[in-house]
Amino acid sequence: MASSASLRRRFADELWREGAITRPEVAEAFATVPREVFVAEGFHGRDGTWVAPGDEGFLDAVYANDVLVTKIQDGRATSSSSQPSLMAAMIEALDLWPGARVLEVGAGTGYNAALMTAAGARVTTVDVQPDVVARAATALAATSSTVDLQLGDGYEGWLAGDPYDRVIVTVGVAGASPRWLDQLVPGGFVLAPIRHAGHHPVLRIARDGAGAVHARGVCPAGFMSAAGPLSALYRGAHPLGTGPLLPPSVRHPARFDPPLDVFRYHDMWFAFGAWDARTTYAQPPDHAADGGCALLDETADGGGATIWPDGAVGGSGPHAEMYAEHASALIDRWLASGSPAVPAWQAAMTLDGDPECPIWVARDWRLAP
Ligand SMILES: C[S@@+](CC[C@H](N)C(=O)[O-])C[C@H]1O[C@@H](n2cnc3c(N)ncnc32)[C@H](O)[C@@H]1O
Repeated sequence: MASSASLRRRFADELWREGAITRPEVAEAFATVPREVFVAEGFHGRDGTWVAPGDEGFLDAVYANDVLVTKIQDGRATSSSSQPSLMAAMIEALDLWPGARVLEVGAGTGYNAALMTAAGARVTTVDVQPDVVARAATALAATSSTVDLQLGDGYEGWLAGDPYDRVIVTVGVAGASPRWLDQLVPGGFVLAPIRHAGHHPVLRIARDGAGAVHARGVCPAGFMSAAGPLSALYRGAHPLGTGPLLPPSVRHPARFDPPLDVFRYHDMWFAFGAWDARTTYAQPPDHAADGGCALLDETADGGGATIWPDGAVGGSGPHAEMYAEHASALIDRWLASGSPAVPAWQAAMTLDGDPECPIWVARDWRLAP
């Protein structure tokens, strides 16, 4: 059986080869920090079974490029170690340097905080669940990591450690807390997965010299949703999805051969969300597996359209033909715009959400000049 150290090295090399890691210090962090210590009680495997240390395949699963779900409550994942390639992309996007001060919202297992620390940052990390924090504390102590771990609602940031050079959010949120921006140094930024069209793509958020807050797309991503005011509803939000769509009665044929890969599909999906507030995630009845991008009419009893990676469109409900036409027109528009990717988009942000605990939400997405 391969040792943890050799699996770790192979894991870091693979992430490097795939281009998920480009900085030597980030590669070294992945090759050094033992992920298995951060899931010491085990995790939920893809088939739903509990995978525990000592089980056959435990270490191989730990060093696969996959999310490890460590806690499920009421059928919903409420804590995990995120997918390593996504962690790597986010750590790289932070543009860290030795001694940079980082606040992480969503400590989870503590693994990402330990990676950033191993890459040279000084990290404070906050999680809202006491049992999650207790397990992360054990793992951080076992690896002699200097991460400052705190229990609290990440909406508040963590005042005692400010100012920070960067804030990284590793849980899906509806908008950015004003506290995060207040606790940054001038010129710092927040990297956060912000809800958009049924997903949580990663955005880079910063305040300009005049005090206005702007967002820029970074990469597509999927995250579990945060607890509390960070997940508040706001005016003009996309539908939360996936009120049962009726089986499609109208079909427009496939347009992409081969189909778009998962990243390009999400690039297209992001653009639809920028152009049409009905865009969200839905799982129509004729697709048993994963759902996909949809235009959803939450008011019209199962009406809407789904758009698949091969460009095929299915229209459902009383206005099926109209929805299918709108969806096909969005594909035309994306192609005519040069098939922009997530980083091509920028938006102004405004305060919305719970008036007691407002959040910055993106408005008026535009393609950057
Ligand atoms: C995907 S996990 C984070 C993964 C983590 N960074 C790691 O390396 O394992 C998301 C975490 O966010 C936490 N969370 C959810 N809502 C939160 C909130 N309002 N404030 C702080 N943490 C929150 C959850 O308890 C969960 O542990």
